[in-house]
Amino acid sequence: MHYAGHAAIVTGGASGLGLATAQALAALGCKVTLLDRNEEAAMARACELNGLGIGCDVADAAGVEAAVAQARSAHGPARVLVNCAGIGVAGRVVGRDGPQPLADFERVIRVNLIGTFNVLRVAAADMVGLEALPSGERGVIVNTASCAAFDGQIGQAAYAASKGGVAAMTLPIARELARFGVRVATIAPGLFQTPLLANLPQDAQDSLGAAIPFPSRLGKPEEFADLAVHIIANPYLNGETIRLDGALRMAPK
Ligand SMILES: NC(=O)c1ccc[n+]([C@@H]2O[C@H](COP(=O)([O-])OP(=O)(O)OC[C@H]3O[C@@H](n4cnc5c(N)ncnc54)[C@H](O)[C@@H]3O)[C@@H](O)[C@H]2O)c1
Repeated sequence: MHYAGHAAIVTGGASGLGLATAQALAALGCKVTLLDRNEEAAMARACELNGLGIGCDVADAAGVEAAVAQARSAHGPARVLVNCAGIGVAGRVVGRDGPQPLADFERVIRVNLIGTFNVLRVAAADMVGLEALPSGERGVIVNTASCAAFDGQIGQAAYAASKGGVAAMTLPIARELARFGVRVATIAPGLFQTPLLANLPQDAQDSLGAAIPFPSRLGKPEEFADLAVHIIANPYLNGETIRLDGALRMAPK
C-alpha cells in the first residue's frame, strides 16, 4: 500500500518504537494520529508531525472507540494501524513475599494483549468498510510482540504470555480479515534503544548489546520503523510474526 494521504493510527506513538514509526509514516505522507496514555507527550509529538495526538488507555473499550472516532473525524477512517503501546513489568511467579500478585499479571495482559486487540477491533471495523484500493487492499495492521513471546526470561511470565498472545492472534485475525483485503502482521523486537533501555547506564547498555550476535548493539527505533513501513508497503506480507533481533536468543535470565 502506498502511504501518501492515508490516515494512520499509531498507539504508543508518544515514545520509542511507536514514535519512530509515526515519524516515518508522517515523512511518507500519512496523516498520523498518535494514541497514547501520555496525553501531553502525544499532543506535543503529534504537533511536530502535523498530526493529531489523543490521550487514551488502549485497554479501555469506550475510550478507544471515542479516540478512533476523533481520529476518523479529523483524518477519515485509518487504513493503517500500528500497535506499539505496551508495558514491561517483571516479577517472579513465586517471589520473596509469596506468589506473584494476580493483579500484576492481569495488568500486563490487559495493556499488552487486550489493549492491542481493543484498538485492532475498532480500527479494523473502519477498514473493512472502506473502498478497496486498486491492489484490492483496504488496510493493514502491524502489531508489536517481543522476542519474549518465544524465549521469555525468568520473571517474564506475564510479559511473555501477553506478547505470545499477540503473536498467536496474528494468523487467525489475518485469516478472518483476508476477504476484506485487510492484512495483519506482527513484529517481535529484540532489544531496542528506547527510553526504557536508554535510561540504563552506558555499560549496562553495552553488555546487553554484546549479547546480540550481529550487529552487537541495541536496535535503533528507526530499524523497527523501517520494518513497519515495509510491512505496510508489501502486499504479500500477511499473517506472520517477524523477529527483528540481530539473531538474539534470550538466556533464561
Ligand atoms: N524497547 C524494546 O527493547 C522492546 C523489545 C520488545 C518489545 N517491545 C515492545 O515495543 C512496544 C513499544 O515499546 P518501547 O520500547 O517503544 O516503549 P516506550 O515506553 O518508549 O513506549 C511505549 C508507549 O506506550 C504508551 N503506553 C503504555 N501503556 C499504555 C496504555 N495502556 N495505553 C496507551 N498507551 C500506553 C506509553 O505511554 C509510551 O508512550 C511495547 O509494546 C514493548 O513491549 C519493546
